[in-house]
Amino acid sequence: MIRVRNVCLHYQTVQGTVKAVENVSFDIFDGEILGIAGESGCGKSTLMKGIYGNVEAPLALTQGSIEMEIEQAGERQVIPSTQFHRYWWEHISYIPQASMSVLNPVVRIQDQFFDSYLRADVRALGKQQLQGRIAEYLRELELPVEVLHSYPHQLSGGMRQRVIVALATFVHPRFVLADEPTTALDVVVQRGILTMLVNLQRQLQNTFILVSHDMGVHYQITDRMVIMYAGQVVEIAPTAILFERPRHPYTQLLINSLPRLGDDTQRFGIGGRPPSLLAPPAGCRFAARCHLADDQCRQVQPPLVEVEPGHFAACLKHEWVTEIPLVGGGESA
Ligand SMILES: Nc1ncnc2c1ncn2[C@@H]1O[C@H](COP(=O)(O)OP(=O)(O)OP(=O)(O)O)[C@@H](O)[C@H]1O
Ligand code: SF4
Ligand SMILES: [Mg+2]
Repeated sequence: MIRVRNVCLHYQTVQGTVKAVENVSFDIFDGEILGIAGESGCGKSTLMKGIYGNVEAPLALTQGSIEMEIEQAGERQVIPSTQFHRYWWEHISYIPQASMSVLNPVVRIQDQFFDSYLRADVRALGKQQLQGRIAEYLRELELPVEVLHSYPHQLSGGMRQRVIVALATFVHPRFVLADEPTTALDVVVQRGILTMLVNLQRQLQNTFILVSHDMGVHYQITDRMVIMYAGQVVEIAPTAILFERPRHPYTQLLINSLPRLGDDTQRFGIGGRPPSLLAPPAGCRFAARCHLADDQCRQVQPPLVEVEPGHFAACLKHEWVTEIPLVGGGESA
């Protein structure tokens, strides 16, 4: 598993410190598909960089810890995120946002596999055997083996993304982080790639962490979800429970803005904007947009509390969230 504890990830900029991730704690369990959602700029990608152990200036882990438990030579070891780079590709791999640019444009796909796995055990196989294994893996993923001889620009966007997924999962890492893996693609291609990811996860029984702003995608494929707002975690729950009984008004609004089949009532977006992460407000960060906000909310930072087993929410009024009907004050979705 991966343990995230009291993590703050800050960017130092000329304007000041951007508190992109603030005091975040949660666990990532073995074998689950964990979804991370929240609107643009709430810190999802920054958190993923932290979980991958790829924190470089201007970003810094200013507080807290991220640790990964792995089994090596029959022994359990706890690895701090500063050491994760030693385990990249083999234990933990990353499909970054805008990953179309991940592939080197002047290197054929096959050589990108060779380069990525230079340090991995599989390299000991020798080039020819490795070549065979790569081809076999592509066949398993129903990808044409010919792509190995192509340059990235010769492939469609969807095919490139499938190749990146193949590259990131080739040696069956325990943890696969995917940051908006389908965002720039059309709906049909998106569905194909998500199906590929889910099938892979079922087959490998490993852990997937999927970032997406699309709640529909989360509903379909994740087991558990983390909802972020303005750099903080505001809700964590098994996906089915989160959709059935959200206990944070922001989550409720995210769910409510989803179109539903056969329901033609008007959907509402979330009015207003999130606060600046350079100078976030003292109390609840969602207060300026929340239909339940009062003076206490504007002064007190709501702690993340367990509202039922395995379900956490950071709202001072979590008990009333599902009982007070939503008011449509925002933009029409
Ligand atoms: N290199 C950087 N330098 C300074 N600030 C940054 C940098 N990268 C991101 N930020 C800021 O950190 C905050 C969180 O950004 P992040 O990219 O993690 O959000 P996100 O949730 O992934 O958004 P999106 O859904 O648009 O991908 C934002 O305020 C963003 O402007
Ligand atoms: S703490 Fe108050 S402002 Fe924040 S989400 Fe809950 S009700 Fe809304
Ligand atoms: Mg992002």
